[in-house]
Amino acid sequence: MKHDEDPATDSFYDTPLARELADLTARRRALDSVPLEYSGRRRIFTVSNQKGGVGKTTSTVNLAAAFAHMGATVLVVDLDPQGNASTALSIPHNAETPSVYDVLVEERPLSEVVQQSPESPRLFCAPSTIHLAGAEIELVSLVARERRLRTALEKYLSTTGADIDIVLIDCPPSLGLLTINAFTAADEVLIPIQCEYYALEGLSQLMGTVSMIQKHLNPTLALSTILLTMYDGRTRLSQQVADEVRAHFADQVLTTVIPRSVRISEAPSFGQTVIAYDGQSVGAVAYREAAVEIVRRDQYPDLETGEAAARAAHDGGTEERGA
Ligand SMILES: Nc1ncnc2c1ncn2[C@@H]1O[C@H](COP(=O)(O)OP(=O)(O)OP(=O)(O)O)[C@@H](O)[C@H]1O
Ligand SMILES: [Mg+2]
Repeated sequence: MKHDEDPATDSFYDTPLARELADLTARRRALDSVPLEYSGRRRIFTVSNQKGGVGKTTSTVNLAAAFAHMGATVLVVDLDPQGNASTALSIPHNAETPSVYDVLVEERPLSEVVQQSPESPRLFCAPSTIHLAGAEIELVSLVARERRLRTALEKYLSTTGADIDIVLIDCPPSLGLLTINAFTAADEVLIPIQCEYYALEGLSQLMGTVSMIQKHLNPTLALSTILLTMYDGRTRLSQQVADEVRAHFADQVLTTVIPRSVRISEAPSFGQTVIAYDGQSVGAVAYREAAVEIVRRDQYPDLETGEAAARAAHDGGTEERGA
């Protein structure tokens, strides 16, 4: 921490808490200088990990809100029968609501189910309802069962949804037909990894599914982004998991990590993202930094991850932090 006083004679300003606060203030200030206009290309992400509870939905809705905050128009497709993303974005999704189920099974146009989130005029959601729980089985006997979301999304993005800049598809914790529809519809895979024991377990199965999709259904699909979530800087375990993931996926892991934060876990019960619920909190700052880093890495593709982050910081984006 930089402070005018001599830290040796000013013990408060040399405490870890004071350093943390000063660091957070500097990070907020850096985010304030990010342009509020989105100039990137259209991107379609599927947020996937068949492991449950790793932060897929939390990352989907908070990154969506962070991108909208940066001026992007964003569509969240809730592909999980649990409907958690719809809840977090305050989108009604009772059994009668037209939903992604109708799109996938009944071929209803996506434009008829998409709703605007009260959180932002730039934030939209195609909700899920409980009917989607049956879709996994109903899809099996339907024509082009793996491509139904892609077809619907392509039609939507070339008509009613022409101004959508970023699509984020929130997947259920499985590798069934719903997730395969998401992989087939997307250009990029974003994998949230929880900084906990067994974090890497199941990743090879996920990679296997991605390469099967690349071979047979969607040759341009790329695993572009890995986001470390629920990081607890006080534990050696979080650090070890982060190091291990970075060793395996040096090019994909974002420099920004999402800390474990009470504010992040509270926000959905108010039907809000953490960006709206407490935009100054460390969790909101981290998700906004992650969104900036995702955009900047795309704009500076030739740079190594660390260099891109440093450039982003220099340009007024996210600041680089130790892993
Ligand atoms: N950074 C965080 N800090 C604290 N709690 C978090 C954080 N990220 C997620 N959580 C909490 O962890 C739980 C699981 O998160 P989330 O629902 O996003 O995971 P998921 O991968 O979507 O789960 P599922 O596989 O069931 O769809 C939720 O209760 C959420 O509020
Ligand atoms: Mg979820």
